[in-house]
Amino acid sequence: MKHQIKSLEQYHSDYKLSIENPEIFWADIAETFVWKKKWDNVLDWNFEKPDIKWFINGKLNITENCLDRHLEIRGDKPAIIWEPNSSDEPNRIITYKELHEAVCRFSNVLQNNGIVKGDRVCLYMPMVPELTIAVLACARVGAIHSVVFAGFSAQSLSDRINDSDCKILITADGLFRGNKTVNLKEICDEALKTTPSIEKVIVYKRTADTIDMKMGRDVWWHSEMNKAATKFDAIEMDSEDELFILYTSGSTGKPKGVVHTCAGYMVYTYYTFLNVFQYEEDDIFWCTADVGWVTGHSYIIYGPLLNGATTVMFEGIPTYPDAGRFWATIDKLQVSKFYTAPTAIRSLMASGLDFVKPYKLDSLKVLGSVGEPINEEAWFWYHDNIGKERCPIVDTWWQTETGGILISPIAYVTPTKPTFATLPLPGVQPILVNQQGEEIVENGVEGLLCMKFPWPSIIRTTYGDHERCRQAYFSTFKNLYFTGDGCRRDEDGYYRIIGRVDDVMNVSGHRLGTAEVENAINEHPNIIESAVVGYPHDIKGQGIYAFVICDKQVNDISLFTKEVNEVISKIISPIAKPDRIQIVSGLPKTRSGKIMRRILRKIAEGDFSNLGDTSTLLDPTVVDEIIRNRK
Ligand code: WT7
Repeated sequence: MKHQIKSLEQYHSDYKLSIENPEIFWADIAETFVWKKKWDNVLDWNFEKPDIKWFINGKLNITENCLDRHLEIRGDKPAIIWEPNSSDEPNRIITYKELHEAVCRFSNVLQNNGIVKGDRVCLYMPMVPELTIAVLACARVGAIHSVVFAGFSAQSLSDRINDSDCKILITADGLFRGNKTVNLKEICDEALKTTPSIEKVIVYKRTADTIDMKMGRDVWWHSEMNKAATKFDAIEMDSEDELFILYTSGSTGKPKGVVHTCAGYMVYTYYTFLNVFQYEEDDIFWCTADVGWVTGHSYIIYGPLLNGATTVMFEGIPTYPDAGRFWATIDKLQVSKFYTAPTAIRSLMASGLDFVKPYKLDSLKVLGSVGEPINEEAWFWYHDNIGKERCPIVDTWWQTETGGILISPIAYVTPTKPTFATLPLPGVQPILVNQQGEEIVENGVEGLLCMKFPWPSIIRTTYGDHERCRQAYFSTFKNLYFTGDGCRRDEDGYYRIIGRVDDVMNVSGHRLGTAEVENAINEHPNIIESAVVGYPHDIKGQGIYAFVICDKQVNDISLFTKEVNEVISKIISPIAKPDRIQIVSGLPKTRSGKIMRRILRKIAEGDFSNLGDTSTLLDPTVVDEIIRNRK
């Protein structure tokens, strides 16, 4: 396949070209696609403003490249294989032809319900094919999709809808997750009390739970689809028109809406999917993420479909009906490339090999890891027991803001090294800097990971607040994109991501800001103040440790914990529940009132030896008290 790197020599020569002549390099890849009008210039960029444009004045619609482009040669090829929550329910297989028709129909539904180019549409959906259909239909009509993970609370949903003034909400009556059902429509109804911009709600029927349908506002997916025509000419989009918004947590304030645009995102997700996983035409590709996260956007939907691949969508969870579900499904669907998160690997590892042994796993060719650092034990377990020492592991480092994978082995090309994301992909120019922003050029060092040149799917802005984007990513170091990650580069020039250096936690691969969790905890009526830090957790990677100051004495600690969890679940999501809560009488603060999280992180870790300088604290005795009472 053209553009596919087949040897280490080719990697080095393609990399060299991509650095010396990025415009020629990326233009050649962009030629793969159907354009309504070709671009004038490939790239124009400025990291100070920031202002980044790729494929300037190009006109296209990404769905023509995901769907229409494939119809002639792969019309009857499965585009989506859907694996339901219950292994007793049959699979659904949707061919490219069928997906194309469904997307066209739903594009008409959106238009019939008042959507025009540039409108924002919020999706709060189970992992069913209709979620992918809705995402693509938004792109086809030129609406900007904002998918909200269906594990977020009503308040989180409402905040996200309001931040970008979404006009339509697409949801379902409910969802199945393991042996639970969740009534999604009820959560939506709660959120909709405070979302004035929403004019219509389109409801897909999944669980047949009883729900309220509000006349004039709520309509059923199936009845709208039945009325809709099956043809829809894709709307012409500019390369830099917004494709989607995806909310993600930062070190301060509320989650921000990361914005990606049409052409650059298309070119980059296509290219990285093709190379990292060494995509082949007969692959069955399974990324276990939820479409609610960027991994799902880029490597369940766009990357695979742009390549004409067969992509698996899984509705359930790794431990239902038992901890062998992933492995059973790999055998059942003959999955060849499998992409999951270290937290899932660690939890399945803990369940024991009896859940792996019954399965052959001989269809597998490549294993992927994403979302957090993979520890050595999990790497070897995955490599030996799932990949049978035969499948390369691609440890892919990237972020919501990067749109696609930046640092990763290329399967069968890059020699892997456990726990290392290895080398930058072509077009990616990482540098390590010290706290002063000076470049560290040698190998065998640690530093702050930055990028000195744009790649096509770099974040363009944060929705409605460009200054926040500049502040968060482009102001820490002049003329650099700052990732927020600490990183080691070894003697071979291989990169190993250490983790966040800011106040962002990574809990089971979910990104959460400490401030965001503290704000939620502080809503508990008995909590005056709190400080939250991440600490090493065997399964989750990081756990959440909350230090709280209470107004009145707490007598029933288990009741108190339950209440705190309820508050968090209501305001954010159950994924943000603290793993440990410690009631304290004070927090270690500097004289200027700043909480010294460094100290709390050490205490949470259980490492009391190196607390560093505590002499600048307003009251150093609180530290002793916290240590004494830590259980
Ligand atoms: C943060 C981004 C990329 C999609 C899923 C997460 C951490 C991500 C790796 C990896 C070590 C990783 C980083 C990054 N991270 N992949 N392979 N090795 N750390 O996207 O929610 O935007 O989180 O996840 O800390 O900054 P996200």
